[in-house]
Amino acid sequence: MSDLLEPAGQRTDRRLERQRSADDPNAITVRDVTRRFGDTVVLDGVSFDVAPGSFTAVTGPSGSGKTTLLHLLAALDHPDSGTIRVNGIDVVHLHQLTRYRRREIGLVFQLHNLVPRLTAEQNVAMALFDTGLGARQRKARAVDLLEQVGLANRVGAKPPTMSGGERQRVAVARALANGPRVILADEPTGSLDDDSAGSVLDLFEALRADEGVTVLAVSHDPRLNARADRLLRLADGRIAPVGGS
Ligand SMILES: Nc1ncnc2c1ncn2[C@@H]1O[C@H](COP(=O)(O)OP(=O)(O)OP(=O)(O)O)[C@@H](O)[C@H]1O
Ligand SMILES: [Mg+2]
Repeated sequence: MSDLLEPAGQRTDRRLERQRSADDPNAITVRDVTRRFGDTVVLDGVSFDVAPGSFTAVTGPSGSGKTTLLHLLAALDHPDSGTIRVNGIDVVHLHQLTRYRRREIGLVFQLHNLVPRLTAEQNVAMALFDTGLGARQRKARAVDLLEQVGLANRVGAKPPTMSGGERQRVAVARALANGPRVILADEPTGSLDDDSAGSVLDLFEALRADEGVTVLAVSHDPRLNARADRLLRLADGRIAPVGGS
């Protein structure tokens, strides 16, 4: 497991490092974030912190803004107002967006965004292009990651020939390829059977325990939510702990 997060080539990036604040102890800090689409206020003053090495699940009704929130954290979208820091990096005012996405976070989305013409192995290896690893090392790491998610026998398969659950696990392997400190996942186990969901959750757990990786997952899946440290609920534009104050 530990080799999963070993430095992949040149890890530090000076331009990105200059953006990192040393005095934010959280893995994720969200303060008073608002996001509107036209007249619809989707996020209306959302604030929460996520501790490093924790596993947080976010629930909430369909359309409550869960995916919107993940997009903001991934710097794929901008809030109308508010502060968002991930690993101390102000992602709202960041210019090094591609570097941030490639180096700091691992993304698993509802739509897997796999390249249909590439094999599972090539889809995972793609995430390793700017790491300084050679082609053979990228291939070896991709195969290793696919083994970790239970797809050792599907490394040569292309997404259109794979089941939804298999594709989801390729997306998880790809998200982990670059050794991210924070994993942002949208329903990562929703389409998986018990065995596959278990292997993804075991992998998250191992990354957290061994490497201190932080996981934030949007989920309605009781199997995932039962294993999270903390359950937050997004509704009516606000976020609050489930069962808390
Ligand atoms: N780019 C956009 N333009 C306009 N409206 C948007 C856009 N993205 C999201 N919305 C709207 O914002 C609201 C929240 O959407 P979002 O996808 O974040 O919900 P969700 O909580 O992830 O729902 P689900 O559980 O169904 O995935 C919805 O009403 C959606 O239509
Ligand atoms: Mg969604």
